[in-house]
Amino acid sequence: MPDVLPGQQRDHLLRAARETMARAYAPYSKFLVGAAILTELGEVFTGCNVENASYGLTMCAERTAIFSAVAHSGADNVRIRAIAVTTPDDVACSPCGACRQVIYEFGSDAVVLFRSHDGWKESRIRDLLPEGFLLL
Ligand code: THU
Repeated sequence: MPDVLPGQQRDHLLRAARETMARAYAPYSKFLVGAAILTELGEVFTGCNVENASYGLTMCAERTAIFSAVAHSGADNVRIRAIAVTTPDDVACSPCGACRQVIYEFGSDAVVLFRSHDGWKESRIRDLLPEGFLLL
């Protein structure tokens, strides 16, 4: 599997993530995030962050996208080939540790496209989360 996403997939995922980012609910942090996943079956699912007055209940964009994919297609049909993460003005945002673990569960070979402090990056989830936890 190539380490770099084909340009068309990359553009499609970025567009989908940005579109959903516009619906982020982040009145507390004001930090809007969008995410889009491409599954091995070729389906695309998106998510945005959803915050709460009880701050710890906040859900990140990446996990919203993955949980939406499971809700729509069933876990057996969700193997993540790639996930893109976006922010307004392309501010740096690499997936948090909790999201890395959830990405790993649904696609241990997934490519993660995100904006780092050094520009756009495509990394394997295995490299972002060495020795991720698995029970199955
Ligand atoms: N957030 C995400 O949605 N994804 C990330 O990868 C990092 C952080 C959200 C959570 C919270 O709503 C806001 O960004 C600030 O932490």
